[in-house]
Amino acid sequence: MTASAPRPVALVTGASSGLGHAYARQLAEGGWDLVPVARRASRLEALAARLQIPGGVTVQPLVADLTDETGLARVAERIDRGVDLVVNCAGFAGYMPFAELSGEVADALIDVHVRAVTHLTGAAVRAMVPHRRGAIINVASLLAFSESAVLGRFNRAAYAGCKAFIVTFTQLVAQEVHDHGIKVQVCCPGAVATEFHDVAGVPRPPAAMSPEEVVTASLRALDAGEVVCVPGLEDPTVIERYHEAQREMLRQGNRPELAERYRVAAG
Ligand SMILES: NC(=O)c1ccc[n+]([C@@H]2O[C@H](COP(=O)([O-])OP(=O)(O)OC[C@H]3O[C@@H](n4cnc5c(N)ncnc54)[C@H](OP(=O)(O)O)[C@@H]3O)[C@@H](O)[C@H]2O)c1
Repeated sequence: MTASAPRPVALVTGASSGLGHAYARQLAEGGWDLVPVARRASRLEALAARLQIPGGVTVQPLVADLTDETGLARVAERIDRGVDLVVNCAGFAGYMPFAELSGEVADALIDVHVRAVTHLTGAAVRAMVPHRRGAIINVASLLAFSESAVLGRFNRAAYAGCKAFIVTFTQLVAQEVHDHGIKVQVCCPGAVATEFHDVAGVPRPPAAMSPEEVVTASLRALDAGEVVCVPGLEDPTVIERYHEAQREMLRQGNRPELAERYRVAAG
């Protein structure tokens, strides 16, 4: 980057802690100006104080609650004005037995993981398509793929369902905008050592990746054009085999006739 070239701008939600904080730090180190988003203004101010040095990157905190209509609109409006990268990273677990999940917590899970991710991805796509460049990273979770795994202690139905939405949504958006020159990634970490588990009131997992490592993988995957980034996955052909199983389900299941076992009532 030359001294006179404008710096690229990244908007990162959830930048007051954990993974979002690590995205902000690594992007700043790479010369990106930042718009960090979260509810805790003091955390964002501390991040700005740490990353901004005279002549260096600019950090413009945007305090917003993504469950709040006005807060979400302000973030979308900032994206409308032009950014080069949007990282949708804000999130929380809300782990509890589904029978005990209040409507309020369910709404917040959907607001942060589904509604905000959809609206902010939409704002980013609309702003980036005319310029034929830009990138979007949506942070999901390996728990998006956990429906067949027995992990009862997580009590995670709504959280994992929201993350599964992010995985499907992001991959389909990636297909749609690929030819417009926009890179889109869904990042699916396993356990990461952040405040996530403290907020959820569950013990931190004994074996967890550092947020720095997750972000290193995600940014390298973005450079490489990977749509699905699983930072701990040694054998990436697992992703292709997962996609092949999905295509097989579509091929075999999408027929105009009932399957044999449904043609006669059971009993
Ligand atoms: N840690 C893990 O094991 C793990 C694994 C897989 C995926 N993830 C995902 O990674 C992402 C980041 O989580 P983390 O591990 O970094 O957790 P974290 O340390 O608790 O950070 C969560 C961030 O989300 C922000 N946030 C939460 N609710 C918000 C709201 N209503 N409006 C605006 N910002 C909000 C928080 O900021 P404020 O509280 O200041 O608003 C904070 O910056 C999440 O999407 C999470 O689901 C985490």
